[in-house]
Amino acid sequence: MHDTARMDDFIFVDGAGLDTAEAYRLVIGCVVPRPVAWITTVDAAGRVNAAPFSSYNYVATSPPMLAVNVALREGETKDTARNIQANGEFVVNVATEANFEVMHACGENYAPHHSETEALGIALLPSCKVRPPRIAMAPVQMECRLDQVVVLGRGINTLFIGEVVAFHLSPQVYDGKRVDSLKLRPVARLGGPFYAGLGEIYHRPMLQRPPGGEGWQGSPRDPTEITPR
Ligand SMILES: Cc1cc2nc3c(=O)[nH]c(=O)nc-3n(C[C@H](O)[C@H](O)[C@H](O)COP(=O)(O)O)c2cc1C
Repeated sequence: MHDTARMDDFIFVDGAGLDTAEAYRLVIGCVVPRPVAWITTVDAAGRVNAAPFSSYNYVATSPPMLAVNVALREGETKDTARNIQANGEFVVNVATEANFEVMHACGENYAPHHSETEALGIALLPSCKVRPPRIAMAPVQMECRLDQVVVLGRGINTLFIGEVVAFHLSPQVYDGKRVDSLKLRPVARLGGPFYAGLGEIYHRPMLQRPPGGEGWQGSPRDPTEITPR
């Protein structure tokens, strides 16, 4: 157990020496909501693997890059991590309300030779630049090529950083310029067994020039890039 002491009216938890289970409980409760990357990879035999990961975000824009942390499972490497290590390719399919139940079912522990997409009858589409296919029911699919692998801390977690080499965007959510969050209806992971959809959406004018300058001085009072309710 760690030392817990009260500072002001906050509960103080010392990060040093936290055991993995407690650290996990705290970070997944504190870092919310997390987007869910539903990742497809292929093994050496060409079998398709699909699994969800919420320790995930974009980390660069020039070129676009995503990062996902895959943990060991009882000391063993997960199929997703093994496949990315082996061939350096993966596809991030965006989890949404429409594909939520199927995405969640992919979180079960399937044996390495057992394809989640076959077991669950998930329709796939070929990718253009990488071997892993795209999940047809995801309205946004990002083909990624591995850029860096960073083994973190005591080695339980590995961060895979990939460059997005191709985006596939459904016209139902993308107008040729912007992805509409309200049409996308992403789902996010919270702490424990909980997920969330989009809640209230707030708009404020941008205060600094974003990369490319869009939405900056030309139209500071534009509604957001999402459709107003
Ligand atoms: C919504 C959701 C988010 C998840 N996020 C992660 C994560 O960020 N990192 C991780 O290692 N496992 C995560 N998991 C667990 C993996 O999906 C699970 O271990 C899966 O069986 C891995 O599959 P694989 O062995 O085919 O790669 C998550 C599960 C769910 C349902």
